[in-house]
Amino acid sequence: MIQTLEWTEAGIRFLDQTKLPTEETYVIAKSYEQVADVIRTMVVRGAPAIGVAAGMGIALGVKNSRAETVADLKKDFEQICKVIGETRPTAVNLFWAIRRMQEKFETLRIRPMPQIKQAIVEEAQRMHAEDIAANQAMGRHGAALMPSSGGVLTHCNAGALATAGYGTALGVIRAAVEQGKTIHVYADETRPFLQGSRLTAWELMKDGIPTTVISDNMAGAMMKQGKIGAIVVGADRIAANGDVANKIGTYTVAVLAKEHGIPFYVAAPISTVDLATADGNGIPIEQRNSKEVTHIAGRQMVPDGVAVENPAFDVTPAKYVAAIITERGIAKAPYGESLKKLVLG
Ligand code: MRU
Repeated sequence: MIQTLEWTEAGIRFLDQTKLPTEETYVIAKSYEQVADVIRTMVVRGAPAIGVAAGMGIALGVKNSRAETVADLKKDFEQICKVIGETRPTAVNLFWAIRRMQEKFETLRIRPMPQIKQAIVEEAQRMHAEDIAANQAMGRHGAALMPSSGGVLTHCNAGALATAGYGTALGVIRAAVEQGKTIHVYADETRPFLQGSRLTAWELMKDGIPTTVISDNMAGAMMKQGKIGAIVVGADRIAANGDVANKIGTYTVAVLAKEHGIPFYVAAPISTVDLATADGNGIPIEQRNSKEVTHIAGRQMVPDGVAVENPAFDVTPAKYVAAIITERGIAKAPYGESLKKLVLG
């Protein structure tokens, strides 16, 4: 399995996703500040992977803390959480991971320092293992929704690289292929950061799953030509009403899917569901550096001084979503009820 991120004695080892698909190199973060940089610069990206990286980054910061009292360790802990929490605003998994570590820390405060540090590191490692298990469960639930043969479109990368392993949307596709379905993946290139062409295509090629890369503006034509039987994407945050924030361009795909009568599925872990946000209007959308739009592989493609927008995500209204696949089962409309049931049990 692809090792997106891994806890090692030397530090946290990240497969450098900014270098794929041409270079398979690793970055070792030795401090929580370096982990924050790795998240911000998208060496690691994808909501669940960001969550696990945050958990591990906090654990690394706690492990390295020079505090001599638990009260001082608590101060360090709060500073670490603050820095990690300021990296990327949209993927709610980041804040879910911070909250989980905060809750864990609270339960440990009466213990001796070495025990606290050890338990925090173990909690981060548990998050890593649980994420892979959740993806495999999502795969088991979602595979039945995939067509027995033909084209499945995906946008961005919601694969092993976006998680601790196996993937959410690509996990569903992997599980369907493992069941013997003959799926051909259409991977949207996903401008401006090219997660589809660089990352989705890279990991599907490694697995031998037939894949065609298309530029984003080709998706509608592929649907019209009958090449796409289903669409499955990941999510960065799902509001209580089922509105889905995901990579910019997802909304366009969902609207096109509706026009062509193609089911549009979202696969995401429960940690991506944000019941505290009522609908998509409340989801913060990250604005990234305009250079991601103006330059391709270092070459300027836009005249100097022209206005540029670069929202990293958009929101797909729940009415376009045929089902939300989670590790606890499949939610269908009305999502206000079905998601609440899955999250709260
Ligand atoms: O900006 P990115 O690459 O972090 O955005 C990733 C996505 O939008 C993914 O589709 C989403 O995080 C789900 S990953 C399982």
